[in-house]
Amino acid sequence: MTLTAVVHDAAEIVTLESGEEAEGEGDAEDGDLGEDELGVYTDAAVAVEDGEVARVGATGPVTREFPPENAEFAVDASGKSVIPGFVDPHTHALFAGDRSDEFEAKLRGKTYQDIMEEGGGILRTVRATREAGDEELLENLLGHLDTMLAHGTTTVEVKSGYGLDTETELRMLEVIDRADDRHPVDVVPTFMGAHAVPEGRETDDYVEEVVDEQIPEVESQGIAEFCDVFCEEGVFDVEQSRRVLEAGKDAGMTPKVHAEELAHIGGTQLAAEVGAASADHLLHSTEEDVAALVESDVVPVLLPGTAFGLGAAYADARAFLDAGADVAIATDFNPNCYSQSMGFAASLSCVEMGLTPAESLVASTTNAAAALDLPENVGTLQVGSPGDLAVLDAPTYVHVPYNFGVNAVEAVLKDGEVVHRA
Ligand code: NIG
Ligand code: FE
Repeated sequence: MTLTAVVHDAAEIVTLESGEEAEGEGDAEDGDLGEDELGVYTDAAVAVEDGEVARVGATGPVTREFPPENAEFAVDASGKSVIPGFVDPHTHALFAGDRSDEFEAKLRGKTYQDIMEEGGGILRTVRATREAGDEELLENLLGHLDTMLAHGTTTVEVKSGYGLDTETELRMLEVIDRADDRHPVDVVPTFMGAHAVPEGRETDDYVEEVVDEQIPEVESQGIAEFCDVFCEEGVFDVEQSRRVLEAGKDAGMTPKVHAEELAHIGGTQLAAEVGAASADHLLHSTEEDVAALVESDVVPVLLPGTAFGLGAAYADARAFLDAGADVAIATDFNPNCYSQSMGFAASLSCVEMGLTPAESLVASTTNAAAALDLPENVGTLQVGSPGDLAVLDAPTYVHVPYNFGVNAVEAVLKDGEVVHRA
């Protein structure tokens, strides 16, 4: 028997298919440009068969072809809206320990660098993560994935990088892989041995270790898809970062770069030069950086939660959008940026970075999928797309950023199965 799901009578379904195609079907709302680009259907239904969207459009024709009473999962979405599941393209969601005291320290005026110098920050999480067993790490990650799913995320990237030695980095990737098997949320694994320099080590010496020891082992383990580096003043400079990313590329991992988060040192240009899938953070990017990313098709991934948590100035999202970049947003969920919610990132992206709600939805679905090199229909609800969607307890998708601090997600379908209900 084929497994089907029908979500019907929705006030609106946002497909994110192109405006022309949506109009071609005759049901698209005649809204403003932004609405057309989103492919919005009103009084709509979506049917999912064998994990993929089989039909989307007006409720009448869709439910005649796919009667809800015959479906495995039927969701009456009267008065509610439906969007593609969020793709969160940048997280450090696997770790042990608690750093809530650092949140208080930052409120009392300490900077992220002060905290690092006092033994806090990334290296503190490294100590806790090395000490934790695999089962504890797995439980931690599964718990965070539950929270993400409840907030509408159906695909998430998770980085290693709290091991900083071969054994723990491999252990982290193994746990990420097991979580992907065990949890409905799709998990995309990234190796980030170059997340920080371990205690008592020289940077160049540690870069040698990452390149000569960690990357070959990660390659034979065969889990990581991307290789990321913290290209930052006082961490890895551009040349050290380039060595790591080139070695990662030779081992089959696509580069990603943490660039210009705390200072401008050239990580964005490096991302363009090595053909990275994305350059992330970009709080201090210049006009030349923006042009280089657009020209080389590197997705700028902006992380408004990080700026919020650091009390820092936000990335200049408008500069990227005006230059024609396909801007993505992510949570950057980590012990220093403690939010698993793409809805909160969307609110910040609108209020603090000037995205429209439509731009923020595109940034957290299709553009986020592009930052992870996922197939083009991920983050959309067209025929053939994965049946990954969120039903919002709200009449329009605009309520995601508008209803800030509140989770608008009522139900989530992954591959056409209802995997969460509020
Ligand atoms: O993306 N910038 C480097 N890494 C993280 C912070 C990790 C941590 O503080 O534990 C980030 O913000
Ligand atoms: Fe990060």
